[in-house]
Amino acid sequence: MKNIRVGIVGLGRLGYHHAQDLMFRIPQAELVAACSVIPEELEKVRTWGLENVYTDYSEMIKNANLEAVVIVSSSGAHAEQIIEAMDAGIHVFSEKPMGVTLEECEKVEKCVELHPDLKFQLGFMRRFDASYMAAKAKVDAGELGKPFLFKSTSNDPLATIDGFLGYAPHSGGPWLDMAVHDIDLALWFLGGEVESVYAIGGGYLYPELEKIGCADNACALLKFKDGAMAQMHVGYSSPHGYQVETEIFGEGENIRISAVPAKNRLQTYNREGVLVECDESWPYRFNEAFFNEKVAFLNCIINDTIPIAGAKDGTATTKVALAATKAFETGEVVHI
Ligand SMILES: NC(=O)c1ccc[n+]([C@@H]2O[C@H](COP(=O)([O-])OP(=O)(O)OC[C@H]3O[C@@H](n4cnc5c(N)ncnc54)[C@H](O)[C@@H]3O)[C@@H](O)[C@H]2O)c1
Repeated sequence: MKNIRVGIVGLGRLGYHHAQDLMFRIPQAELVAACSVIPEELEKVRTWGLENVYTDYSEMIKNANLEAVVIVSSSGAHAEQIIEAMDAGIHVFSEKPMGVTLEECEKVEKCVELHPDLKFQLGFMRRFDASYMAAKAKVDAGELGKPFLFKSTSNDPLATIDGFLGYAPHSGGPWLDMAVHDIDLALWFLGGEVESVYAIGGGYLYPELEKIGCADNACALLKFKDGAMAQMHVGYSSPHGYQVETEIFGEGENIRISAVPAKNRLQTYNREGVLVECDESWPYRFNEAFFNEKVAFLNCIINDTIPIAGAKDGTATTKVALAATKAFETGEVVHI
């Protein structure tokens, strides 16, 4: 099997997880370089024998002889780093969001168009989760009839709230940070375009978040141009663990994914009732999806096929996330 020479930028909460996959689990990848602005994070990957490490992204792009780069830096750095890599002839996998403004997204789209020989994939990993893939196959086969309502909850565990409170100022807010996954799924399952968005939320548990334009829980209602609806709740304060749940209603059938966010099949029957252990956080719930999405990206390079989550999906989700942010800030319905 061909090994692709991969570099990674960002070795934080998610980057370290992606780096471990690339180093130890994915046969198609040869992790040859890593970059972080935090030197201690580089020391951790040096212990794996990875000596080619950088604190400057441009230096890595220029000097590491990469075929592909995996971008897991802070959201505000993605667009610039995507463009720099592709202009240097390197395939790109980037974490979401693709850009934090529409201008950034348009620049990335243009860059991807300019380099048809290079692959670009966005990290919408839920599309690579077995349950979501099965749901998509049912929807595409017409088993639900025409889907008209998408409902979802994405709630990070309260146990990791301290990490979020530190990360919140550069998160882009709940819509760009978290709801982009739900928005992407709504667009993926329902098809078509969003016409208008209404969004509300607040710092119900952590009022200090409101001072920086953020929220610990927020909701949005999306109306699609063909009349279909999407309703979503995102939060950072789930008391029982990590919960991502999705429902899709069709003319014929409804489907539901992860109504109870069970970590495994263990159930304890005692005086408190029937107890189920929950996923602790996203690396557990979506472990296989994070793995599958990178394998799919590398296979697109090897087999010259088109990634299923690309630049147009990145722009479409950012557009809706920015409209939700504006609705949340103004209290108005925002027409797209
Ligand atoms: N797909 C998902 O479910 C999911 C989950 C978590 C995070 N993310 C995304 O992944 C990205 C990283 O999130 P995180 O939680 O790991 O963040 P983090 O703050 O824990 O880590 C950020 C990392 O990026 C590096 N970095 C930042 N700017 C850089 C620059 N200009 N040059 C080089 N390195 C730079 C930092 O050194 C650090 O290693 C974010 O964009 C986030 O939206 C996606």
